[in-house]
Amino acid sequence: KKSQAWSALFSEPMSELVKRYTSSVFFDKRLWAADIEGSLAHAGMLAAQGIIGAQDLADIQRGMAQIKGEIEAGQFEWKLELEDVHLNIEARLTQLVGDAGKRLHTGRSRNDQVATDVRLWLRSEIDQIGELLADMQRALVSVAADHTETVMPGFTHMQVAQPVSFAHHLLAYVEMFARDAERLTDLRKRVNRLPLGAAALAGTSYPLDREAVAKSLGFDGVCQNSLDAVSDRDFAIEFSGFAALVMIHVSRMAEEIVLWMSQNFGFIDLSDRYCTGSSIMPQKRNPDVAELARGKSGRVVGHLMGLITLMKGQPLTYNKDNQEDKEPLFDTVDTVKDTLRIMAEMVGGEVAADGSRSGGLKVKADAMERAALRGYATATDLADYLVKKGLPFRDAHEVVAHAVKEGLKQGVDLAELPLATLQGFDARITDDVFSVLTLRGSLNARNVLGGTAPVQALAQIARHQARLGR
Ligand code: ARG
Repeated sequence: KKSQAWSALFSEPMSELVKRYTSSVFFDKRLWAADIEGSLAHAGMLAAQGIIGAQDLADIQRGMAQIKGEIEAGQFEWKLELEDVHLNIEARLTQLVGDAGKRLHTGRSRNDQVATDVRLWLRSEIDQIGELLADMQRALVSVAADHTETVMPGFTHMQVAQPVSFAHHLLAYVEMFARDAERLTDLRKRVNRLPLGAAALAGTSYPLDREAVAKSLGFDGVCQNSLDAVSDRDFAIEFSGFAALVMIHVSRMAEEIVLWMSQNFGFIDLSDRYCTGSSIMPQKRNPDVAELARGKSGRVVGHLMGLITLMKGQPLTYNKDNQEDKEPLFDTVDTVKDTLRIMAEMVGGEVAADGSRSGGLKVKADAMERAALRGYATATDLADYLVKKGLPFRDAHEVVAHAVKEGLKQGVDLAELPLATLQGFDARITDDVFSVLTLRGSLNARNVLGGTAPVQALAQIARHQARLGR
């Protein structure tokens, strides 16, 4: 009996430490479904090309069906000494069906096999993440739809800048997630190429029909260079880049949720089901979910660094380094999926079968509005008002600065300064100024495409709803 999986060439068994160090089965067994799917497509093509017999194919199909059942039932015995998911499944297949199992690997190497498995697996995860990104956007749009008239302060430098609607603010995140979804769709095209047929690195001498395998596995095409096919993991790096950006967008949103929930803002509240308490301070309800989402962006960005560094300096073609792509990639996928799911739910509420939502953000419109009334958020509106009355913008800017200074001195808002005082800064000011200085006047005035006026937000919401479904 052979002492290990390789060949008669080896005169001593692998050291225990090396076995443990080189084995990947305890994490890559997760690829089992893709591995079986890829093997069945390969075997089907081998039979169609007359490379293996019809009986061999039938045996392989029967064996794989049994293996699938064993794995699903948790009865499959994964063996460390069989190194990885591929060798574990192949060994079991041979145990079950004999010679046909040994013929499966004809014209194939684990190098093109693993690249195929990862692409198949990632493709299906990409499709699920695409759905979750759409759910996230729907959640944001659904809250936005109720708040086109809810005014909050918009900030620059974390200082009150101009009034915006809460809807408009949330729709900014919809744009970010929409771009993430676009990136995902685009990179999927490059993930969805078939490496099988590259064999170890140089291609194979068997008359494989690669296009047929690609078609049966739903790939958009085949990798056109065998050396590239087995060695590059840029598709995984690209996915990680996408994932890092999604998590950065989530992290920004999470940070705002944390801020907004703080007593010093008090803009929102979260349902209890998304909060945790403190073991010492009885009054506490903490936004742990948002904080964790923000924190988890770190590991996803870290995985991107890990993967891209893994590729650096690898000579062509396959190197064992590439086995290290799996754990970061798996963790990235798990983190992004969980995070999108929980954040979408926390923002938009849980969606019932009839489409109704419960438990989302509780918006405290009054607090938002009060905050918008502090900090002279309509100062730009006063400047614009003066421009419409003929003053050059730079001069208007200066006039309003004096008015704000006076307001600060008296401890009142611009709209609370008497008309006579305002006229002291510029004689062109008349009593129509007060409608301009209101929050809603300011909002309505920004009726440019992409602006914060409620009619603009409503148009954006309609566009998103048409694009995403409700
Ligand atoms: N477990 C390996 C990986 O994840 C599979 C390919 C190994 N190929 C080899 N020739 N050692 O990359």
